[in-house]
Amino acid sequence: MFDLSGQVALITGSSRGIGLAAARALGLQGATVIINGRDASSLARARDYLAAEGIDTLVLPFDITNIDQSIGAVDTVLKTVGKIDIFFSNAGIQHREKLLDFPLSEFERVVFANLTAQWALGRHVAAGMHEQGYGRIIFTGSITALLGRREVTAYTAAKAAMHGIVRQWATELSASGITVNAIAPGYIKTELTTRLWTDPEFTAWLENRVPMKKWGEPDDVASTLVFLAARESRYITGQVVVVDGGLSSSM
Ligand SMILES: NC(=O)c1ccc[n+]([C@@H]2O[C@H](COP(=O)([O-])OP(=O)(O)OC[C@H]3O[C@@H](n4cnc5c(N)ncnc54)[C@H](OP(=O)(O)O)[C@@H]3O)[C@@H](O)[C@H]2O)c1
Repeated sequence: MFDLSGQVALITGSSRGIGLAAARALGLQGATVIINGRDASSLARARDYLAAEGIDTLVLPFDITNIDQSIGAVDTVLKTVGKIDIFFSNAGIQHREKLLDFPLSEFERVVFANLTAQWALGRHVAAGMHEQGYGRIIFTGSITALLGRREVTAYTAAKAAMHGIVRQWATELSASGITVNAIAPGYIKTELTTRLWTDPEFTAWLENRVPMKKWGEPDDVASTLVFLAARESRYITGQVVVVDGGLSSSM
C-alpha cells in the first residue's frame, strides 16, 4: 500500500521545512518529485539532500505569486514530464503584527500568496488532472483557521478560505477523478516559526498547552501527506486533516 511508483508529484515551497520533508516522504514511496521555491541555492541544497536518499528529483524554481511564471512552469512540466498526479500546494508566508497596526499592504501580500496565487496555480494543475481523469490535490491549511490567535490576521483569513476551497473544489472535481484535501498543521518547527521556537516562554506555553507536550516536526506532516496522496485514500475528499499533537481537540 501507498506505493507511488510511476507518479509525479509537484510540491510548492519544498526547498526546506514541511515541503522538503514532504518531497522526501513522497520520493521514498517511489514518486518522481518536483521541488520548488524562489531561491536557487536552497533548491540545489534540497536536490542534493534528496539525491543522497536515492530520490529522483526535478527542480522547478518559480515564485507562486507570479501567476504567469507559475502557470508557465507547470506547462513546462506537462510538456516535458507529461503529467502531474500529486499536487501539494504548500508554499506559504507569514506576517505577524497586531491587528490595529497591521498594514493593508501586508494583508494583501499575505492573502495573495497564501490564497489567490494557490487558487490560480491549483486550478491550472487541476485542468491537467481533469484531462487525465486522476489527481490528488492537497493544500496546506492551518490550525489558525480553527482557533483564534493574535497577530496573524491575514494568514488566518487566507488559511480559513483555503479550508473552504477544499470543500468547494472537492465537490466540483470529484467527477474528474480528483480528490482535494488539506492538512492543517499545528506548531511545526521550521524557519516560518523561528520567532516562536526561539522564544523559551512560547515553548513553555506550547509544552503546557499541547497534549503531546512538544513541537511538531515536518515529518509529522509528511506522513499524513503520503496517505492523502496515495491511490488508497480514494474515498476521502473535501477534508481538512489536523496534525497538531491534539492542540485543537483540547481546552
Ligand atoms: N510551520 C508551522 O508551524 C506551520 C503551521 C501551519 C501551517 N504551516 C504552513 O505550512 C506551509 C510550509 O511552511 P513551513 O513552516 O515549512 O515554512 P518555511 O520553512 O518558511 O518554508 C517555506 C517554503 O516555501 C517557499 N516559498 C515561500 N514563498 C514562496 C513563493 N512566493 N513562491 C515559491 N516558494 C515560496 C520557501 O522557499 P523560498 O523562500 O526560497 O521561496 C520555502 O521552501 C506554509 O503554507 C505554512 O503556512 C506551517
